[in-house]
Amino acid sequence: MPTTVVVGLQWGDEGKGKMVHNLSESATAVARFSGGANAGHTVKLGGSDLVLHQVPTGLVQPAVKAFVGTGCVLDPIALSEELKSLMDAGINVGDRLRISSKVHLVHPVYKALEKMDEEDRGGNAIGTTLRAIGPTYVQKFSRRGIRLEDAACESEFREAIEAQTDRCLSMLDLSSDRRTEIRRQSERFTELSLELVELAGDVSLALEEILEEDGLVIAEGAQGTLLDPDHGTYPYVTCGSCLSGAASISLGIGPSMIDEVVGVVKAYCSRVGAGPFPTELRGDTGDMLREKGHEYGATTGRPRRCGWLDGVLLRYASRLNGCHWLALTMLDVLSGFDSLNICTRYELDPDSDVPLFETGRRLGKHRPVFEELPGWSENIAGATSWDDLPEQAQRYVLRIEELVGVPVRAVSTGPGQNDIIWRLF
Ligand code: GDP
Ligand code: IMO
Ligand code: MG
Repeated sequence: MPTTVVVGLQWGDEGKGKMVHNLSESATAVARFSGGANAGHTVKLGGSDLVLHQVPTGLVQPAVKAFVGTGCVLDPIALSEELKSLMDAGINVGDRLRISSKVHLVHPVYKALEKMDEEDRGGNAIGTTLRAIGPTYVQKFSRRGIRLEDAACESEFREAIEAQTDRCLSMLDLSSDRRTEIRRQSERFTELSLELVELAGDVSLALEEILEEDGLVIAEGAQGTLLDPDHGTYPYVTCGSCLSGAASISLGIGPSMIDEVVGVVKAYCSRVGAGPFPTELRGDTGDMLREKGHEYGATTGRPRRCGWLDGVLLRYASRLNGCHWLALTMLDVLSGFDSLNICTRYELDPDSDVPLFETGRRLGKHRPVFEELPGWSENIAGATSWDDLPEQAQRYVLRIEELVGVPVRAVSTGPGQNDIIWRLF
């Protein structure tokens, strides 16, 4: 049985959680392969929203095993709160969760380092989630990081954490109260990390066994392609790789074990934090998208910047990920617009056409050129059949397919697990 990788093709929050929830109904395992507590993946349970940050969305399905890959970063304090909230929601995690022993841990002092760095950037701040994702990857790649497996040896771990706390505090200009507070958090971090050792394991080996026994594995991505540190809108990116290829490295499964790549696309665009966004709408239309789509961050509550769909960006993102098919979400949010725009190319000045997506600093200067499509007034929330869609909505979907060159196999029409139209080819 195959591995299916699910990735976001825009700037995150495309509805990956909803899609993974739907796809994982028939899965043996769901494995998160990137990011950490910066993610917020929402699933509808009964009438309420459950937001998953660090653990795979698959845990919501009662029989699915869940893994956190080596390429993620793990915040033990936030994890203990998240596991509690799952328990409160009636989800029995039991022994279904395994975390790569090689995963890097987010120490509380890294949050102070991140705050200092963001303040230092002034008007050029990244607008991070302040979950210390960046500093944890920096520690990892500067070969000073803390891995979960380090906690297996308690006395050495305690010493290493004290040394790391001292080293990081020496870089910070903080009041003595704040230092005491960070040392207290560090103690809690240490105790929780020691407890987490019992969940640590070899994710690569576990997934190999599942795949050999014909189980379906869903590799759940986080963030989105344009937030990828290599191929995104650098420097306004996150620090963990978000592309489908990262699933292979993070989970320790060779590329030949991946059979299918699903790109999740929001029917318009949104972005949280700073950075270029060529199709952004700053006026009433943008506000209307935000309100209709409830576009407020699932992790930080920040209002998301909204804009028209960007076909140039999608073509780029689909190529980078090698998408086999697309899942188009939030189509219901677009009901009620007289017309809809899709960007099909950019101009730098009237004489220079930019047909391909560029990530460099020039991107901020690009003027999007739009194609106008007719809107529809019918409410399509919860539609489950292609024939239930007004002709204009069908046309919108088919145009996306044409622009990206990849089939749209699923159209999501609401936040619920089954608010979805499957198109069979
Ligand atoms: P993720 O980070 O990609 O998992 O996305 P988020 O959970 O951060 O944000 C997506 C939001 O849209 C959540 O509130 C979902 O419940 C909601 N959502 C997902 N799919 C749809 C859809 O097709 N229609 C509507 N109206 N909401 C959706
Ligand atoms: P999901 O998985 C949307 C953004 C932040 C910021 C930038 C860097 O829910 O789609 P970081 O804290 O990662 O260093 O912030 O990346 N960002 C996200 N935006 N959805 C996410 O995750 C995001 N994770 C990070 O807003 O602009
Ligand atoms: Mg999200």
